[in-house]
Amino acid sequence: MKLPDASGAPSLLQTIQLIAQPTAFLDSCIKRYGDPFTVRVLGLNSPPVVFFSDPLAIQEIFSLPSSQLDFRKATHVFEPLMGKQSLILQEGKSHQRQRQLMMPPFKSDRMKSYGQLIWEITGQATREWTTGSSVSIHKVMPEITLQIILQVVFGIDSGPRYQQLETLLSTLLEDVTTPLYSSLFFFPPLQKDLGARSPWGHFVRRRAAIDALIYAEIAERRLQDNESRTDILSLLMSARDENGEQMSDVELRDQLVSLLLLGYETTAAALAWAFYWIHSTPSVQETLQSELDTLSENPEPVAIAKLPYLTAVCSETLRINPIALICTPRMTKEPLQVAGYDFDAGTILIPCIYLAHQREQVFPDPRQFKPERFLKQKFSTYEYLPFGGGDRGCIGMAFSMFEMKLVLARILSDFELELAQGRPVRPVRRGITIVPSGAVPVVVKSKQPRIKFQSV
Ligand code: HEM
Repeated sequence: MKLPDASGAPSLLQTIQLIAQPTAFLDSCIKRYGDPFTVRVLGLNSPPVVFFSDPLAIQEIFSLPSSQLDFRKATHVFEPLMGKQSLILQEGKSHQRQRQLMMPPFKSDRMKSYGQLIWEITGQATREWTTGSSVSIHKVMPEITLQIILQVVFGIDSGPRYQQLETLLSTLLEDVTTPLYSSLFFFPPLQKDLGARSPWGHFVRRRAAIDALIYAEIAERRLQDNESRTDILSLLMSARDENGEQMSDVELRDQLVSLLLLGYETTAAALAWAFYWIHSTPSVQETLQSELDTLSENPEPVAIAKLPYLTAVCSETLRINPIALICTPRMTKEPLQVAGYDFDAGTILIPCIYLAHQREQVFPDPRQFKPERFLKQKFSTYEYLPFGGGDRGCIGMAFSMFEMKLVLARILSDFELELAQGRPVRPVRRGITIVPSGAVPVVVKSKQPRIKFQSV
């Protein structure tokens, strides 16, 4: 059966809607056309783009052999930023090899070694907060998660190299999410270095400065004995593939930049949503607070990460406001069938995380924030997929869930907060992430560090 091309609207209009009001656009499409539906998006030479939210269809897509799919059609825009060797730009065997090399530091059993660091960075970042302070959650969270990712990935926490990287990375990300910069990535003819003041020239120079710092760190590490280090750079430097080969310096650089850029803004946005939902749902705030009060004075990080209600709050946050609305788009290399429909070669298939999480039959009252649903029921990885799935699923999943829980537990144990404004926040696009509109301002009602922390 062939899926009718439901998209009546001109592709330019659809593209503008998808960029400017992505969730409203997806809501209106599913209401009007049902599931799956097709839209036309400019910038990808207008092939049909098909959105799926039915778990059975998503399962079929995740199970398609990667030889039938082309991922680079969508990810190539990241090449100037993350580099040719970045995991997200690999296909087939090369993708498999890199994932094998990169997965070990992200496995759940490694999380324990990052716990102390996350706890302390969060404590440091909030130490100036006093009763009556006004704080922008949206501003503070990326500061915390950037420090965490830099230290976990590089294992450096001070000195000029660390500080320069921190500044360069945060301003780079700030810039690339503005409409002017992001359009440069989508239209290669605009990628012209016309001197340091031109937008592309500025980007190229900043990237060169970041690369110089990263290559200097790699060179220094090659001279050191890395055996005892647990940071991701050291683990990647010592990892070997099945042929006994290590990553080259360029490969290491590309993976590090990818991890740094994918790994902090995403978790920061998830945390900002979590603070918003917890503080706008009094019953949730109360239940969570009671659970945190049961922690001993010296809790282990893994004990915090196992708290059922805290875990449910994080899961529900990523359900109601998934940071990525869609999984990596897959272009079919040959004609194939999904959910009983025939698709020509060149069709873009999109498992739509946002719409899957809005399915009434799976998540009753989908617009309501109800962490309890995760306590009552276990959802399949095709029904609930904030980190995507299949062989392209997010490698940072365990790490960012762990980080979210520890940051929340630390702040909510040390402070009582209140939203500073009653207005509901809207999901808005920031680059490839969906963040709360506005600053999410909170007021510190009281400060009362309740929990110490055990060294691990
Ligand atoms: C709340 C935080 C995060 C969310 C919601 C998130 C979400 C996602 C999603 C939806 C994908 C695409 C999966 C697919 O196409 O099936 C992805 C891929 C990826 N993510 Fe994350 N992510 C988060 C945090 C992180 C962190 C902390 C890291 C690393 C430090 C990371 C590294 C990656 C990488 C490398 C990929 C590409 C995997 C591949 O192509 O094989 N992410 N993420």
